[in-house]
Amino acid sequence: MSAEIKNTIDTIYDRRSIRKYLDKSVNPDLVQEILRAGMFAPSGINKQPWHFVVFDKKEMVQKVKEMHPYASSLATAPVCIMVCGDTNLEMAPGFYQVDCSAAIENMLLAANALGLDTCWMGIYPWTEVMDSFSKTFELPQNVKPFALIALGYGAVKAERPKRFDENKIHYNKW
Ligand SMILES: Cc1cc2nc3c(=O)[nH]c(=O)nc-3n(C[C@H](O)[C@H](O)[C@H](O)COP(=O)(O)O)c2cc1C
Repeated sequence: MSAEIKNTIDTIYDRRSIRKYLDKSVNPDLVQEILRAGMFAPSGINKQPWHFVVFDKKEMVQKVKEMHPYASSLATAPVCIMVCGDTNLEMAPGFYQVDCSAAIENMLLAANALGLDTCWMGIYPWTEVMDSFSKTFELPQNVKPFALIALGYGAVKAERPKRFDENKIHYNKW
């Protein structure tokens, strides 16, 4: 790994959802590194109930855009990763969603640290959208489509927003 990789705190503050990408491919080694980061996320009793479907084929991207109402960022993203939860693996019902979210955030941060941009697009809990993804990607019954990640080099830069809010912090009791 390069010594130029950003520190963790800057990475957290700099990550933004990017919906327009440059026409520039992503080295498969970087995609692999991002998937590895996802698999290092914490999960309920370390069940790791995730699967990742990586796709970059134009016709698949087009299909997905038709199935998902808010997946505009896919139009220009060179890579898309669908994160799925495995109900046979999760610690108990309701855990795969939490575990997959932790994996996704790890991936978004890893991508940012590696100079890439991302956008998280939810699939769960829209049952109709979930059904379309399950059918299109021929997922087994126990594997549930959870979210999409658009991945690439952003064509736009987004500023760090101001988000710290004292009112959201409560000490000892509400
Ligand atoms: C559960 C979840 C679902 C999201 N779904 C979409 C989506 O369908 N389409 C999209 O463009 N962005 C989606 N986003 C990205 C949010 O819009 C974005 O995180 C939010 O506006 C804050 O901006 P930031 O990511 O740049 O900090 C989603 C984010 C989360 C966490």
